[in-house]
Amino acid sequence: MKFTDIKTLLNKIKIGSKVNIKGWIRTCRDSKNVIFISLNDGSTISNLQIVFIPSLIDEEIKKELNTGACIEVIGTIEKSQGKNQNIELVGKEIKIIGKASAEEYPLQPKRHSLEFLRSISHLRFRTNAFSAIFRVRNCLSFAIHKFFNENGFIYLNTPIITSCDAEGAGEMFTVTSADLTKISKDYDYKQDFFGKKVNLTVSGQLAGETGAMALGKIYTFGPTFRAENSNTSRHLAEFWMVEPEIAFYELNDNIDLAEEFLKYIIEYVLKNSQDDLKFLDKRYSDIQKSKPQNERDDKSLIEKLEYIVKTRFQRITYTEAFDILRNCSKNKKKKFEYLVKDWGIDLQSEHERYLTEKHFKKPVVVTDYPKDIKAFYMYKNEDDKTVAAMDILVPGIGEIIGGAQREHRYDILKDSMDKFNVDKNQLSWYLDTRKFGTAPHSGFGLGLERMIQLITGMDNIRDVIAFPRTPGKAEC
Ligand code: 4AD
Ligand code: MG
Repeated sequence: MKFTDIKTLLNKIKIGSKVNIKGWIRTCRDSKNVIFISLNDGSTISNLQIVFIPSLIDEEIKKELNTGACIEVIGTIEKSQGKNQNIELVGKEIKIIGKASAEEYPLQPKRHSLEFLRSISHLRFRTNAFSAIFRVRNCLSFAIHKFFNENGFIYLNTPIITSCDAEGAGEMFTVTSADLTKISKDYDYKQDFFGKKVNLTVSGQLAGETGAMALGKIYTFGPTFRAENSNTSRHLAEFWMVEPEIAFYELNDNIDLAEEFLKYIIEYVLKNSQDDLKFLDKRYSDIQKSKPQNERDDKSLIEKLEYIVKTRFQRITYTEAFDILRNCSKNKKKKFEYLVKDWGIDLQSEHERYLTEKHFKKPVVVTDYPKDIKAFYMYKNEDDKTVAAMDILVPGIGEIIGGAQREHRYDILKDSMDKFNVDKNQLSWYLDTRKFGTAPHSGFGLGLERMIQLITGMDNIRDVIAFPRTPGKAEC
């Protein structure tokens, strides 16, 4: 008999059906006349209750019915006598597929701290919270592809190994085939595998732009790498980014697209991950209850997401944002760690969060940043001081999207590369798009993990990626 997964079984299988089920034991309780096994196979947040008459199970097998063990059960679906579930599996036969020693298995059925679970990333999928998070991550990734596919975008895979530094921040991991124990400080990368110095990509954007200049609408969706030493709950050294790039789009078209896109993917997850979101919503509310009154979120997780879907995002310029922040600093309404004194400062996470969480209480799009604090490729505005950049800030996270209209004017782009010390020879292929049939175009990047944090309510970015890479940590 072919085995069935628990999700299908709970949704579709009729009372009286004979089934074969496989999964991992969450708990096993041996009461006098009956053995209760709670089984999960990862297909859903719900466990299947299995009941056995003790005499049907060998004594040797009984000893192995530990939390974490993998089993196969054949039995019949019956209406449950208990009140926690509608149906249960009345077991006839049971087999141990893989044992789990009760003394050694680290995931005993009790509450574990997130820190502890991070130290066993390879096992944490087996908890309710993490299985829900990774199913939501899957649902969200699918929604992203669906949105772009329905809107005529072409999925482009840009290189992971690249010779360029798209963001100009210089926080890159070098890739080399050289024996690091033997190379000297003045190692000549001409001898290296690619004949030059290469790194792991920090963004697929520049390659993506070359695609958009022929295919019209593209998006990339892949891993990106940053060697910044930021040990925060919003930064990873390896994270996934979604980057659409669209020919003939100016800044406002780009913002409209980003807003529509964010709403679409949230709505999709709300509709298609209901059980997991209900679980995460309850978890979020329990955590809020344990916080002091003034730090509590007044909305539930699901309410917050529904609100984002239906509200129009606030749109303001950097200069307007700066004025709000400076005034509130001046009036002592809010004390910032980084002072807001001079126009031109970069907005810090605390400033971004104040704007979106306290001032506007909704997602905020900040545009037209000072040119010196943004990347070389952004379109220079007429004022000669700002560029057509846009960042989207959301409550609880801060910046979730960074994007811009691109500088498509050849001479101005060359000038900007000089000012930012960007090597024009190395980026001659990028400049070619401006030399041959240039056109206005725009795009943005959404950090997938920050998006999952927003949807799942998880505080720490390390808890929404399977195996987080952060300074000093790369398990598995
Ligand atoms: O703002 P960023 O650096 O923009 C770019 O890389 C552009 N090339 C995107 C584009 O226009 N195509 O990064 C984009 C987003 C951020 O808003 C944030 O959500 C996420 O990527 N991000 C990170 N997520 C996790 N860990 C990090 N270290 C991140 N750095 C950026
Ligand atoms: Mg950014």
